[in-house]
Amino acid sequence: MYNRWRIKPIENLLAKKEGGTHRLARTLGPFDLTALGLGAVIGTGIFVLTGLAAARFAGPGIILSFIIAAVVSGLTALIYAELASSIPVAGSAYTFAYTSLGELLAWLVGWNLVLEYAVASGAVSIGWGSYFVSLLKSAGITLPAALTTSPLGGGIINLPSLFIAAMITALIISGTQHSVVANKFIVGLKVSILILFIFLGFRHVDTANWNPFLPFGMSGIFKGAAIIFFAFIGFDAVSTAAEEVKNPRRDLPFGIISSLALATVLYIAVSAVLTGIVKYPSLDTASPMASALLAIGLNWGSALVSVGALAGLTSVMLVTMYGQSRIFFAMSRDGLLPPVFSWVHPKLATPVPDSLIIGTIVALMGSLLPIQIVAELANIGTLSAFMAVSIGLIVLRKTRPDLPRPFKVPFVPWLPLAAFGFSFYLAFNLPALTWVRLALWVLIGLAIYFAYGYRHSKLRSAQPEGLRPADLRNMAPARKPEEKREK
Ligand code: ALA
Repeated sequence: MYNRWRIKPIENLLAKKEGGTHRLARTLGPFDLTALGLGAVIGTGIFVLTGLAAARFAGPGIILSFIIAAVVSGLTALIYAELASSIPVAGSAYTFAYTSLGELLAWLVGWNLVLEYAVASGAVSIGWGSYFVSLLKSAGITLPAALTTSPLGGGIINLPSLFIAAMITALIISGTQHSVVANKFIVGLKVSILILFIFLGFRHVDTANWNPFLPFGMSGIFKGAAIIFFAFIGFDAVSTAAEEVKNPRRDLPFGIISSLALATVLYIAVSAVLTGIVKYPSLDTASPMASALLAIGLNWGSALVSVGALAGLTSVMLVTMYGQSRIFFAMSRDGLLPPVFSWVHPKLATPVPDSLIIGTIVALMGSLLPIQIVAELANIGTLSAFMAVSIGLIVLRKTRPDLPRPFKVPFVPWLPLAAFGFSFYLAFNLPALTWVRLALWVLIGLAIYFAYGYRHSKLRSAQPEGLRPADLRNMAPARKPEEKREK
């Protein structure tokens, strides 16, 4: 019988033959990667969810929620840094799981990454819609609420979210490459807007607004952290670009850790200023930063924040939808998804059906569901991937002690176990209904695996009798793949 716990040998992944002629050009350096990380990270979390989480769960204590979510993400970032530097190939957590935890768990991690990438992109499209509506409002144009609100939120359809999802899908299909230069420009713009917000708002901070600091107690802080964790999603997207990095073993850890550190500093400063200039209950709006500046009479600042948010959210959608297409691509290349997911249009040179399917998921999520539900689903999916890579790292240290590890996580197994525990605790703070939705999602994933992936796995046809961790321990030590490749 086929062994569904079988592991993908890392040597296959690193050898040229696996990617064939489809290997991508290695053009990215450490600062390109930091920009890529910030491009994927700074978005709806800070521009939209901060207000909602402060008003409903954490109050001004949202500042502490950001610190907690940053610690969880920081520990996991170290784990991604080690795995990405020792297995620098596309596919991110899915690939890491395939080389350590076996095919079935890898499939489930890949399946849950749909929540992290495509579903998160749906949440970002809702944030985009809110800022679009607020920008039009500041220009005196009011769109009917029924056409800018999801059915579950009391409207008919969220048209602006549908619009941006369709635009980005068209952009990706048309072959417009996500140019590194364009991304850097957008990242520069959104980081400048956040700094401008801090600068403008700082002088209007009234410390009385921070009182009470913890209106919902300590439990509110953790509930807030479970929501605004969304603001940190995306640093791992850096590892999906692994095959395009000049010196992946050195630059991937740098890109992952530096983008996360910069985002954390900005988030803490923005949330402190935001809760300092208005009272937290008034932050329950879809565009809290713009509304807060409006409340203190800075209309031009508010319009500028809206423009920056729109640009920033567009780049998050672009990067996450690309990330999703690369993950589907890797899964289809492995035979776990039908070949249509890795079919590339001969003229456009883009995976057209793949992009259309992803665009449809994003459009459905964004136009029909409220942001909190979509963001919570994305968070639980991401946290489950974080838990899998934490365990994957411990397993890989045992099964492949010989693997070159240019970046090494300290205090193994304690640090990965702590990352696992914190991720679990954060997920535990999400509503019970989100867990039910995750369980449903996993059941659908299992059904698809046994109906399709289990039968079509490329690894299955290559090694029908299976390969277990014990087999790998007896293999020859790993060669240094980069040195060979560069010759
Ligand atoms: N971290 C990204 C955002 O906040 C997904 O939009």
